[in-house]
Amino acid sequence: MERRLKEILAAAEKNIFNIADHNSLNNYWLELFGSNGIITKIFKDFKTLPSSQKPEIGKMANEIKNKVNSFFNLRKIEINKLKLKQVLDVTMPGFRPPQGHLHLVSYAISEITSIFENIGFTRVRYPEVEWEWYAFESLNMPKNHPARDDIETFFIDTPSSKKYGRMVLSPHTSSGQVREMERVKSIAPIRMINIAKCYRPNWDISHTPMFHQFEGLVVDSGINITHLKGTMDYFARKFFGPQRKTRLRPFHFRFTEPSFEVDINCGLCLGKGVLDNGEKCRLCKSGWLELGGSGMVHPKVLLNGHIDPQKYTGFAFGWGVERTYLMKEGMKISDLRILYQNDIRFLEQF
Ligand code: PHE
Repeated sequence: MERRLKEILAAAEKNIFNIADHNSLNNYWLELFGSNGIITKIFKDFKTLPSSQKPEIGKMANEIKNKVNSFFNLRKIEINKLKLKQVLDVTMPGFRPPQGHLHLVSYAISEITSIFENIGFTRVRYPEVEWEWYAFESLNMPKNHPARDDIETFFIDTPSSKKYGRMVLSPHTSSGQVREMERVKSIAPIRMINIAKCYRPNWDISHTPMFHQFEGLVVDSGINITHLKGTMDYFARKFFGPQRKTRLRPFHFRFTEPSFEVDINCGLCLGKGVLDNGEKCRLCKSGWLELGGSGMVHPKVLLNGHIDPQKYTGFAFGWGVERTYLMKEGMKISDLRILYQNDIRFLEQF
């Protein structure tokens, strides 16, 4: 018993002064003094000793118990001092707080906005939940017209209006054209840049069911195609840099006449349609990516916005924000859907 006590003391002293935090110190205290602790056990065994040994061993056991306890107290104070020293250590490098930034789509929107604001456009937004009238009829797309099939649409399950038809999730920012004419009370000039969420039931590598478009609308006296072309060229130079190319393809929209598709060479394969590893480019397939439509505002649309097409003409264009941003120099994203997966490892890269 005497030897055991001496061993316990030596081990306890060594261990206690190697412990560096309060938690481990508490745990070690329980190992010694808890209900099944080593020292507790000594005191239990004490009862079985022959009474001749009891006085001497009892005294020794008590002394050792007090010593070990004083080691604990001492170490507690030391640990506190150690912690204090750490807190006050002015030579420690500081923590850099994590710094957030805008989502790349928000960033693109603010960049697009300022490019157009610099040439006198006004940023507006129109409802995401919209009437069929603004999304289709007012844009010269009557009910049951096949042109509507090109714009797949989410319908809202609500009662429809006699005047405005059913409610839809706005499938394009063109829904804002006649709304803008109404906002300015049909008084030209209009220089609108409408940037908003749009919805269509598509989900694949180049489509998400929610996406963004930016729509320009200019109405004034004497507006012609050169103004449309000049504005798009200006935007392409400002946003993509002087190197990226655009082209116009004749197209058809019900609400513009004449109409064009605007294309830009692909930023992933740089117009080749093939990647460096020889694979077909997954994003564009042909070297050119469609940005969206444009054209001269159809006289019927002006009439629906109560603007006299004899006095005024206009142009409009509607491009996808995500597409446009991806086509920007240096962006190599082969699947559009990652934009909305909120994966911090992706977002942090921008
Ligand atoms: N709204 C058309 C679309 O979403 C694009 C467009 C806008 C075309 C303006 C012409 C003029 O496809």
